[in-house]
Amino acid sequence: MKFIKKYMVNLILGLGFFAVLTIVGCASTTNIVDRSGAQLWGENCARCHNIRPPQSLTDAQWEVAGMHMRTRANLSGIVTRKIIDFLKTAN
Ligand code: HEC
Repeated sequence: MKFIKKYMVNLILGLGFFAVLTIVGCASTTNIVDRSGAQLWGENCARCHNIRPPQSLTDAQWEVAGMHMRTRANLSGIVTRKIIDFLKTAN
């Protein structure tokens, strides 16, 4: 009986922990989608070199440089797209 009680407590704690991890995990994904291109640019594009101002390249050049930096920085598709779109509206 004592064993079963301990088992149930562990099971409930385990499921609770799993639920918290799932909720926290999904919350941080939503967070990235909610961030603007300008914010993502500030967070990601000054990690390795000085930030390149939007005016430094044309729309077509930002497409190419953006894809180049996507592979360099291992960025996701949505993050890269938002940053490139922001740079193209601000140049
Ligand atoms: C992981 C480090 C890293 C991050 C993060 C990074 N870059 Fe770069 N970037 C480089 C390196 C290294 C170069 C020099 C060219 C090369 O060797 O690839 C470069 C060069 C550039 C150039 C010069 C043109 C070119 O394509 O070579 C531009 C513009 C640029 N980065 C923009 C950005 C933008 C915009 C972001 C954010 C999406 C970014 N970088 C994030 C490493 C990084």
